[in-house]
Amino acid sequence: MRKIAKTLTVLAAIATLSLTACGRSDVDSEAAKAGTGLSGFAADSVIGVALPKKTSENWTLAENLFNDGLTKAGFKPSVQFANGGVSDQQNQISAMITSGAKVIVVGAVDGAQLGAQLQQAKDAGAVIIAYDRMLTNTAAVDYYVAYDNFEVGKLQGQALLKGLAAKKPAGPYNVELFAGSPDDANSKVFFDGAMSVLQPKIADGTLKVVSGQADFGQAVTQDWKAENAQKRMDSLLSGSYASAQLDGVLSPNDMLARAIITSAKSAGKSVPVVTGQDSEVQSVKSILASEQYSTINKDTRKLVEHTITMVQDLQQGVALEVNDNRNYKNEFKRVPAYLLPPVIVTAENVKTAYVDDPVLGPITK
Ligand code: BGC
Repeated sequence: MRKIAKTLTVLAAIATLSLTACGRSDVDSEAAKAGTGLSGFAADSVIGVALPKKTSENWTLAENLFNDGLTKAGFKPSVQFANGGVSDQQNQISAMITSGAKVIVVGAVDGAQLGAQLQQAKDAGAVIIAYDRMLTNTAAVDYYVAYDNFEVGKLQGQALLKGLAAKKPAGPYNVELFAGSPDDANSKVFFDGAMSVLQPKIADGTLKVVSGQADFGQAVTQDWKAENAQKRMDSLLSGSYASAQLDGVLSPNDMLARAIITSAKSAGKSVPVVTGQDSEVQSVKSILASEQYSTINKDTRKLVEHTITMVQDLQQGVALEVNDNRNYKNEFKRVPAYLLPPVIVTAENVKTAYVDDPVLGPITK
């Protein structure tokens, strides 16, 4: 009896700890009471934006969009990149507190390592918005704004299956799985979303992970670095695919997709079906050239725009618009979230997907 109770406690703890987009349990009424008790602040306040390393184009785009948008809205933006890693970002958040920031928007390098600084920020009266990546291991986070990351993963999984079926009508298909950096809370969510589609196909034999490396821990790419993905792909190709044919690769983003394609080409192999994310210029061109199979459109302009709307609502002391109160949580709380819908892009819709994008529109028309 005691053993069962203990097992149940452990299971409950695991369930609570799992940071997931699919923790689809009851709506937490506490979380539904989105609000910080803040009653507005000066319209020309400092707003901190702590961004991670420039591991993909979306972060660079966000920097300019935040600077311009916050300035236009009358705020004083302080937008910082943590290219030196976690301690850089910790120091930057501390400096934002000292400069009197009323809201601190955080795209974390490692969302689990900012608890002390975020708590200090809250004690100083600032509101914390987790941007794109969830903040974990702390209760000091008020809101989350992002594209629906679990959905991103699902779309990637579905695209991989579709691309494989288009390549040859019947399986089994040999595939390999790549995930993002383990310190980015999104990485596991993307992977879980993709595996919700792919796992049943692995189980029924349609897909074969020839290397046997099908766990998140085996698939991760430290620091989201292209060279790390390329190295792993090189050794998979020379090991598991010395004679077998590789049909497809789950890649969590465009940067890594291009590294995987480069690896296949330099090994003299045909390019497999490779997924991606971010709609980076080189990957959109690669889709047009029928190399990379898919990407995801997560328009950074819309994400930044909504984040600035949240800041304006906080400034005016009005309730923030959230559309998800239950799926995003960390070890301490459910975080009221505003999620935007990601869109899959393949050769089929690449010419229409970016019509209103100033950079990608002209390339794809
Ligand atoms: C973002 C992705 C990006 C990755 C690497 C993730 O947290 O959601 O869009 O590709 O970080 O920078």
